[in-house]
Amino acid sequence: MDKKIQVIQGPNLNLLGAREPEIYGNQTLKDINNHCKNLAEKLNFQIDFFQSNAENEIIDCIQNCNNQVDFIIINPAAFTHTSIAIRDALVATSIPFIEVHLSNIFNREEFRRRSYLSDRAVAVVTGMGSYGYICAINYLKIFFEKTNSK
Ligand code: DQA
Repeated sequence: MDKKIQVIQGPNLNLLGAREPEIYGNQTLKDINNHCKNLAEKLNFQIDFFQSNAENEIIDCIQNCNNQVDFIIINPAAFTHTSIAIRDALVATSIPFIEVHLSNIFNREEFRRRSYLSDRAVAVVTGMGSYGYICAINYLKIFFEKTNSK
């Protein structure tokens, strides 16, 4: 299997490790990416990582995935709750994606409960901390087996 995965991280996730560690944990984005990379290599996936604080750059990244990437794992961070444009970009490429959140967006402020992406996602992982990314990558093994056998 040589599937290609793009991980996309939204605004302020570059501050992981220092940013509200009681909510987002102590691992830096680099730590998380290293763990994801190690697992992806074991599973024979190619994996790339992208983080931006800018909505347009995230949209460009999604558009550039078109015909290049088999699956997107995205934590749109605060754009989850605001960005119809990111939703539209994902829908336009029709690349399957998993939405990941480190915190449980349902047990925090009311405004975090709405996601513009979830109804189009293959799955949503929320509240498992950095393990959410590992969980998503592991699931892809099952997902690709299922979709390849169709
Ligand atoms: C987040 C949750 C969002 O509500 C918040 O704006 C983030 C991170 C999470 O991973 O828990 O920046 O997506």
